[in-house]
Amino acid sequence: MNQIILSEKLTVSRIALGFWRVKNWNFTTNQLLNYIESALDKGITTFDHADIYGDFQAETIFGNALKQKPSLREKMQLVTKCGIQPLYRDIPGKRVKFYDTSFQHIVKSVDQSLKNFNTDYIDLLLIHRADPLMNPEETARAFDALKQAGKVLHFGVSNFSFMEFEMLNRYTSEPLITNQVEISPYTLEHFENSNMAFFLKEKIHPMAWSPLAGGKLINPVDEKSKRINEALMDLANRLNIPSIDTLVYAWLLHHPAGIIPIIGSGKIERMNSALAAFDINLTTEMWYEIYEASLGQPVP
Ligand SMILES: NC(=O)c1ccc[n+]([C@@H]2O[C@H](COP(=O)([O-])OP(=O)(O)OC[C@H]3O[C@@H](n4cnc5c(N)ncnc54)[C@H](OP(=O)(O)O)[C@@H]3O)[C@@H](O)[C@H]2O)c1
Repeated sequence: MNQIILSEKLTVSRIALGFWRVKNWNFTTNQLLNYIESALDKGITTFDHADIYGDFQAETIFGNALKQKPSLREKMQLVTKCGIQPLYRDIPGKRVKFYDTSFQHIVKSVDQSLKNFNTDYIDLLLIHRADPLMNPEETARAFDALKQAGKVLHFGVSNFSFMEFEMLNRYTSEPLITNQVEISPYTLEHFENSNMAFFLKEKIHPMAWSPLAGGKLINPVDEKSKRINEALMDLANRLNIPSIDTLVYAWLLHHPAGIIPIIGSGKIERMNSALAAFDINLTTEMWYEIYEASLGQPVP
């Protein structure tokens, strides 16, 4: 299986697996354990989480599976996030959802994640969203404390603009190693806001969340997703590719920034469709067929 080097000491799988929706998969602990083992067997070793996923239960659901077979821990890279305080959390007196990148919140969240996962280290911690109130000195201090305690090995961000990335990067002791952002043929935002140029300039590999636009590219819900879906179907027919999700993964893998797509499904066949993308070579023109379908018009 292809891998990608995020930093000198962290190599991840070329395609990752995300657990945002794990609660909806309704797996028993043994079923989830089997799913995790299938992923590892296929070379998908990087698992994406966040403290808040599944109403704060996703990490624990995963950790219960890991508890059954602790030897799997060293075969995987655990990514998790913190920094969002959702409103649905049962805290008396809470009025709004907000971001919290304070020392205290980050350290507390990581301690809880470690307990949830039944592990003593997180491979990669991401700040989930750019916080308008972030004090970068304080956030960096939290990173230092977690690193020194051996609780987190590497740090990155999610949904940051390149300027927000650079800003925090100026304060951290070690460089931030990724920015997890939404990238798919449906969401071209990061091609348009210079983030992709920044990744290439800094040799940073972004992680791509919702690579299938949450399923919209397969089951279209609006004009734009319909357009892209038709272009994908057309190309898939010409290339004899059985499922269009494979084509979307190939489209993401084709980009020179080394985008790491995160699969969002609990179905083994979807993992196989994603991995089939390694065998597809798109031409530049094919890549632009999908891009144009998303834009709804030819490039200028
Ligand atoms: N950093 C962030 O802010 C952020 C935000 C969102 C997500 N994420 C991460 O990104 C991961 C992936 O996001 P995502 O779940 O939105 O990914 P996605 O792949 O865009 O969407 C997954 C959805 O598409 C459906 N799907 C996949 N293949 C399909 C097919 N062939 N036919 C019909 N439906 C299909 C899945 O349904 P099935 O279950 O039926 O396969 C699932 O509901 C998450 O798990 C999380 O780790 C991060």
